[in-house]
Amino acid sequence: MTHAKLPTPRLVTPPVEPDRLYSDPAPLVTDFSFGSETTKVFDDMLHRSVPFYAEMQRMITEITEDFAADGTNIYDLGCSTGATLLDLQHIDRDVTFIGIDSSAAMLDRAGEELKRANFARPYALRQQDLHQGLEIQNASVVIMSLTLQFVRPLYREQVLHRIFEGLNPQGCLILIEKVLEEETLVNRLFIKYYYDFKRRNAYSDLEIAQKREALENVLIPYRLRENQELLERVGFRGPEIFFKWYNFCGMLALK
Ligand SMILES: C[S@@+](CC[C@H](N)C(=O)[O-])C[C@H]1O[C@@H](n2cnc3c(N)ncnc32)[C@H](O)[C@@H]1O
Repeated sequence: MTHAKLPTPRLVTPPVEPDRLYSDPAPLVTDFSFGSETTKVFDDMLHRSVPFYAEMQRMITEITEDFAADGTNIYDLGCSTGATLLDLQHIDRDVTFIGIDSSAAMLDRAGEELKRANFARPYALRQQDLHQGLEIQNASVVIMSLTLQFVRPLYREQVLHRIFEGLNPQGCLILIEKVLEEETLVNRLFIKYYYDFKRRNAYSDLEIAQKREALENVLIPYRLRENQELLERVGFRGPEIFFKWYNFCGMLALK
């Protein structure tokens, strides 16, 4: 298949609030959450905190276009404000989009964004905590971009198992995760380069330090090999790496 239509331009630019969540010193940094305060600044946060975020989204669309099959569902688990769904709306397949997230604030925002962009494809937005179960049916593509890392380790295999069971043969999982490296020296260096990236994107040292503390017990990255072993254990083929930037990795796992 050719991708003459890619990259898909955004029809409407949403209002973007700058992320200043951690700019003031806090006496006690609380755990990071995906509530309304984060939702308001989330698009700015993603673009300034995730290296090559726009390119990864473009790659998700490109890969999805080749795996999507007519009459099936495309799932985005941890769909947040709907950015990925918006990018997918022009893929040339007769599919239904299903966005799942545990955050009501994120889903409200996603609904607004889809309406604002006149999202003209069949879709559903569902509030679901992945710790409490997950129903995947008739899926040709499941996308999990920067979301599995927020699922508690105890539940990750179960979530991936459900995805595998709900995927049709020849379907795929597109998984993007922050990862740890095998070598502690390299791990430290990659994290340093990542914080340098955040500084280049106008985050102060205080913001970086407080966000790091807030994420400490909330975002739990695995080693790349641990992710691959987990995927293989539930039955996926591959998984192939389609993106890697220091401590960020995109994996394509096949059923
Ligand atoms: C980093 S964001 C994902 C970003 C988005 N996929 C993208 O690429 O633009 C993680 C999302 O996962 C959701 N999330 C975190 N833990 C979850 C859980 N246990 N169940 C469902 N959603 C969860 C959060 O509410 C948040 O919207």
